Amino acid sequence: MKAALEFVTSMEFWRMAVLWAFYLLISYWKLFLQPNSNSNSRPSNSSPWTSPSGFRPVCVITGATSGLGAAAAHALSARGFFVVLVGRSSHLLAKTIMDIKTQNENVHLKAFEVDVASFHSLLQFKASLQQWLSNSEMHPSIQLLINNAGILATSSRLTSQGYDQMMATNYLSAFSLSKLLLPLLRNSPVPSRIVNVTSFTHRSDPGVVETNIMREVPSCLSGLAFIVLKLLGLLQSPEIGVSSILDAALSPPETSGVYYFGGKGRTVDSSVLSYNAKLGEELWDASTHLFLESQLASKETFTSE
Ligand SMILES: NC(=O)c1ccc[n+]([C@@H]2O[C@H](COP(=O)([O-])OP(=O)(O)OC[C@H]3O[C@@H](n4cnc5c(N)ncnc54)[C@H](OP(=O)(O)O)[C@@H]3O)[C@@H](O)[C@H]2O)c1
Repeated sequence: MKAALEFVTSMEFWRMAVLWAFYLLISYWKLFLQPNSNSNSRPSNSSPWTSPSGFRPVCVITGATSGLGAAAAHALSARGFFVVLVGRSSHLLAKTIMDIKTQNENVHLKAFEVDVASFHSLLQFKASLQQWLSNSEMHPSIQLLINNAGILATSSRLTSQGYDQMMATNYLSAFSLSKLLLPLLRNSPVPSRIVNVTSFTHRSDPGVVETNIMREVPSCLSGLAFIVLKLLGLLQSPEIGVSSILDAALSPPETSGVYYFGGKGRTVDSSVLSYNAKLGEELWDASTHLFLESQLASKETFTSE
C-alpha cells in the first residue's frame, strides 16, 4: 500500500496514467467522429507480399515474448510469414515458440535473444540475422519490421550506455533497429515496411490491452486500472488489440505515415505535435546524433576488446 501511495504521488504516475488516458480518450473521440469513413487497409486476412512463386516474407517482431508482440507473432505466422521473434529471455522465446506451434505446427519461426535497450546487442542481432538469412535458402532480405518492445517504467533508471531505460527501450531501439536493418528492408524484391507500436513512435496504436505492460506498477493499482477499464468497455485482449498492428502491417504497399487505431483498418489523425515539421526534424537530428554516438562507442569497445 505504501508503494502504491508513493507511486500515485510521483511525477511518473501523472505523466503516464493521466497523459496517456487523456490522449487515448481523444483518439476514441476522433474515431467516434469519423465512423467507417477512414478505413485505409485491405482486409487483414490478406497480405501485400503474397506472390504466386510461393515467396515467403520475413517479419521481425521485437518484444515478441508477451502481450501484443506474441499475438502479432501468432497472427502473422498463421498468415504465412517467416516470423523472427526478438526477445531478451531465451526461456520466454522458447515458450512463445512452443505456444504458437501447439496451435499451428506448420508455421515458420526463428528466435533471437536481444536486449533492444543495448546498442551492442542490436548490432550483434543485425550480424546474426544477416548470417542466418545467408545460410538459409531464403532471399537475403526482410519484408516487415515491427518495433513493438516496450516498457512502462515507474522509476527512472539508466542503461549501461547511460540512457534512460524507457527512452532506450521504447524509442531509441526502434530508431536504431530501423536504421541497422534498412539495407535488408531495401534489398526486398517486394515493398517492405516498418510498423512502430512503441509508445513514443506510434504508427499503430492498439488502444488499451490487457498485457504485462503494467508489471512495474503496484499490483493493487494495475488491478484497479484493469477493472475500471473493463467496466468502461475499453479493455481488450491481446488477440483483439493486435488488429491495429495487423492493419498497419498488411495495409497496401503505398500506405505510409498513417496512424492506425481501433482495428478494422480504421485510422485517426495523430496528435497535432506529430505534424510539426520543425519538431520532427529536431527529433530526427537528435536521434541520429545518439545513433552515431552509440555506433562510435561500440566501435571503440570492439577495438579495445
Ligand atoms: N498494453 C497496452 O495497453 C498498450 C497501449 C499502447 C501501446 N502499447 C505498446 O505496445 C508494445 C507492447 O506492449 P505490451 O502491452 O504487449 O506489453 P508486454 O506484455 O509487457 O510486452 C512487452 C514486450 O517487450 C519486451 N521487452 C521489454 N524490454 C525489452 C528489452 N530491453 N529487450 C527486448 N525485449 C524487451 C518484453 O520482454 P520481457 O517479457 O522479457 O520483459 C515483452 O516481450 C509496447 O511498446 C507498449 O508501449 C501497449
